[in-house]
Amino acid sequence: MASRPFIVGNWKMHGTRAMLSEARAIDRAAQRLMQVEIALAPPFTLIHPVRREAEQIGVGAQDCHPADGGAHTGDISAAMVADAGAGFVILGHSERREGHNEKDKLIAEKAAAAFDAGLKVILCCGEPMEKREAGKAVDHVLRQLKASLPDNVPEAGERLTVAYEPIWAIGSGEAASIEDIVAMHSAIREFLVKTFGEEDGTAIRIIYGGSVNPENAAEIIAGDEVNGALVGGASLSAESFMNIVLAAQ
Ligand code: G3P
Repeated sequence: MASRPFIVGNWKMHGTRAMLSEARAIDRAAQRLMQVEIALAPPFTLIHPVRREAEQIGVGAQDCHPADGGAHTGDISAAMVADAGAGFVILGHSERREGHNEKDKLIAEKAAAAFDAGLKVILCCGEPMEKREAGKAVDHVLRQLKASLPDNVPEAGERLTVAYEPIWAIGSGEAASIEDIVAMHSAIREFLVKTFGEEDGTAIRIIYGGSVNPENAAEIIAGDEVNGALVGGASLSAESFMNIVLAAQ
């Protein structure tokens, strides 16, 4: 099922209200680019302001707590993310798996909470360089993906997106080769069809992240089984992010 390319900007820990001007510029440009689905994942503090200012683009969170509520000082539940106006949440990003010691089981619990709160999920996976060098990248990613999925994924074709982000390509300026990207996305697609059946398994979008920029975006997004991109650094400027969107058309 061919769907529009899905281009998501992950602002990570960047962004005060001064950045709303970038969100507004992206939203204005998005009005003319309906062939691409565009979304931003700002910090929690900007979800509601971006939702209020930007009508054309999707808005998401970069994480959520697995509990519905309770004594979890400083944490944000999936219901709070939805209440702030987000439509999706990024889970399992390597910066949280490594920076917050998040294990696959916790990510699966977060995904279940996100689905229960009516959110869509972008589930991240990706190998460290040592696994790639050992020829174990596909094994690592498929094991990680299987262990990070909850038992129940409602309307998987519509509500789940998988983001393949080789850890060594994130923030490095060097994206994975198109050959490696296509090989991994094809392996992920085969896993998704086996897991969710032909219809949902082929509808789930698989997007690539790791040093996507306006120069390499067209080749990457044109790759087999590449349905879009998860963009970090290049999403912080409306100009570079929209050049990536234009390349995806
Ligand atoms: O989530 C996307 C991010 O990890 C990629 O970052 O800066 O390499 O585009 P960057």
